[in-house]
Parts: sequence; C-alpha cells; structure tokens
Amino acid sequence: MFRLGFNLFLLIAPTFAVTDVAGVVADVGPGINGFQAGDQVVAMLNSFNGGGLAEYAVASENLTVKRPPEVSAAEGAGLPIAAGTALQALRTIGAKFDGTGKPMNVLVTAASGGVGLYAVQLAKRAGLHVTATCGARNVELVKSLGADEVLDYRTPEGATLQSPSGKKYDGVVHCTVGTSWSTFEPVLAATGKVIDITPNLTAILKSALHSVTFARKRLVPLLLSPNKADLEFLVGLLKDGKLETLIDSRFPLSEVSKAWEKSIEGHATGKIIVEMGD
Ligand SMILES: NC(=O)c1ccc[n+]([C@@H]2O[C@H](COP(=O)([O-])OP(=O)(O)OC[C@H]3O[C@@H](n4cnc5c(N)ncnc54)[C@H](OP(=O)(O)O)[C@@H]3O)[C@@H](O)[C@H]2O)c1
Ligand SMILES: *[C@@H]1O[C@H](CO)[C@@H](O)[C@H](O)[C@H]1NC(C)=O
Ligand SMILES: *[C@@H]1O[C@H](CO)[C@@H](O)[C@H](O)[C@H]1NC(C)=O
Repeated sequence: MFRLGFNLFLLIAPTFAVTDVAGVVADVGPGINGFQAGDQVVAMLNSFNGGGLAEYAVASENLTVKRPPEVSAAEGAGLPIAAGTALQALRTIGAKFDGTGKPMNVLVTAASGGVGLYAVQLAKRAGLHVTATCGARNVELVKSLGADEVLDYRTPEGATLQSPSGKKYDGVVHCTVGTSWSTFEPVLAATGKVIDITPNLTAILKSALHSVTFARKRLVPLLLSPNKADLEFLVGLLKDGKLETLIDSRFPLSEVSKAWEKSIEGHATGKIIVEMGD
C-alpha cells in the first residue's frame, strides 16, 4: 500500500463508490519497489481502504499503473472502471485486440455514456462492425468515434434496436437498463450474446436459465474483474492516441455534490471529472 497525493479525481457511475483516480504518488509503503514519490499514476482503489473523493487516497500497487506524460490525469482517471468494463464485455463477446479476431457485428447501447464511448472505440480497434444507440444530440459524436450505424434511442426504430442495414448482432455491450430479452432476441445472430453490465434479478435468473438449457442466444451478466494488465493496456492505447477519454464536465472538489447529481441523472456524455486543487 502507498499514499498517493492527487490533483485529480474521477466520479464514476452512481452504483459504485468513487474508485478511479489519477495523480501523483505522495509516499510509498514498505516493500513497494515499482513506484516512488513523484510518479504520475492512474489507479483503481479498493473501497476497503477508503474512496477517492479526497486529496489523498490509498492505492494498492497491483491496481496502479504509471501514467505517461502524453496522458493527462483527467484522461487517465476516466479509464479504470468504464474502459475496463467495456474491454471485458467485448472480450466476452470474442473480440481480439491483436489483429487475430474474426469479423463480428456488435451493438453498443448508451454509446454516449461513460462505458459506451470507450466500448465503441475499443470495438473499432478490434475491427468489429459497430451499431450504437444514443440520443439525437450525440449521434454525430458517436459516428466520429467510429460507429458504423447509430440509432436514436428515443425514436420507434431506435427502440427496436434493429440495425438499419439489417445486420444481426454477434454481441451486445448493453450499457443501459430497461430493455427486455424479447427486444434483444430477434436482433441477435444465432449464437449472439448480450453482455449486461447492470443486470437486475430478472436478468440474472434469465442468464442462469440460458446456461442450464444450453441456449444458443444468451444473456450474460458482467461484473468487472479489476486487473493491472487491462489498465496497462488501456493507458497504452491512450498514450498512442488509439483511444480517447471524452469528458462531459469537470467540477472542483468543493462542488462535488453537483458532480454526483450530474452522474445520477444519467445524461452525461462521457466521464464526469472531479478536480483537486494544487
Ligand atoms: N458491470 C460493471 O462493472 C459496470 C461498470 C461501470 C458501469 N456500470 C453500469 O453501467 C451503466 C452505464 O454506466 P455509464 O456510466 O456508462 O452510464 P452514463 O454515462 O450515465 O450514461 C449516460 C448516457 O446514456 C445515454 N442513455 C441513457 N439511456 C439510454 C438508452 N435507453 N439508450 C441509449 N442511450 C441512453 C444518455 O443519453 P441522453 O442524455 O441523450 O439521454 C447519456 O449520454 C450504469 O448502470 C452503471 O452503473 C457497470
Ligand atoms: C429487470 O429489467 C427488465 C428489463 O427492463 C425488466 O423487464 C424487469 O421487470 C426488471 N426486473 C426487476 C426484478 O426489476
Ligand atoms: C492485490 O494485492 C492484494 C494484497 O496483496 C491481494 O489481496 C489481491 O488479491 C491482489 N489483487 C490482484 C488483482 O492481484
């Protein structure tokens, strides 16, 4: 364990404690060799050691990575949970990031959100055909990040989730709530999977049923399993300009309640950042 002095913090999805931070190492504990005071880092905190809405936080070495000068603290702080979840959801569908993947069609729902904007970009990195849903105001943004087809979720066509070009989805990175299995079922390919990152009880029971009946089309609940290798991979993509963190808004620590409200409302475009003064 070591102490990190931060100048930037990230407010993440409302159902999680604030655990994503980026800043500067203030001090290191005994036995820590990989980091020293002054290192610029990105970390995902483990909530047993306290959260991140403070000027200092305690991070564990195995979920902390160095942040190269090309990556600002705000851009780095956006990554751990949101991009980590997008990455693991895409891998669950079968996406490969080393050029060995086969072509697939994916749907990203709530593509303008914290997880969705990373999911669209990562899916394009994996060479997939991407259909995305978002509100009308974000259609151009989501296209500019590489989405091949974009649906406005508030229109009747958008609500069906059908790809305008008639593609069936091999996988769905499902980043919103309120869509029933009967909506997904007709738009999935024969062995299509819906990766639900906010599963409720119905979804968990449905996925258990799919697994015991060897269903070909499946609902799969996903809970991020945090790991350093993924965080390193993602920071590397940011460094190389192959991934972008889109920032909805920034708030000083003194206005953290406004940041929290903005997050809870569910209408952010990208990540909400809380900044610590120097
Ligand atoms: N399993 C995990 O490990 C994990 C990790 C991170 C997050 N999560 C969960 O995943 C969900 C997504 O989180 P997030 O931070 O990405 O969300 P978010 O940033 O709050 O998403 C907001 C965006 O979604 C759009 N949106 C809202 N409803 C939509 C719909 N029905 N269809 C299409 N777009 C819609 C909004 O557009 P408008 O403003 O235009 O309405 C807004 O741009 C949350 O429930 C969160 O708790 C799970
Ligand atoms: C879970 O979400 C689905 C899709 O919106 C909904 O149909 C179902 O009623 C919800 N179940 C519970 C237990 O909230
Ligand atoms: C990180 O280190 C802690 C404490 O040594 C250990 O309990 C945990 O399993 C490790 N986590 C990972 C992802 O390696």
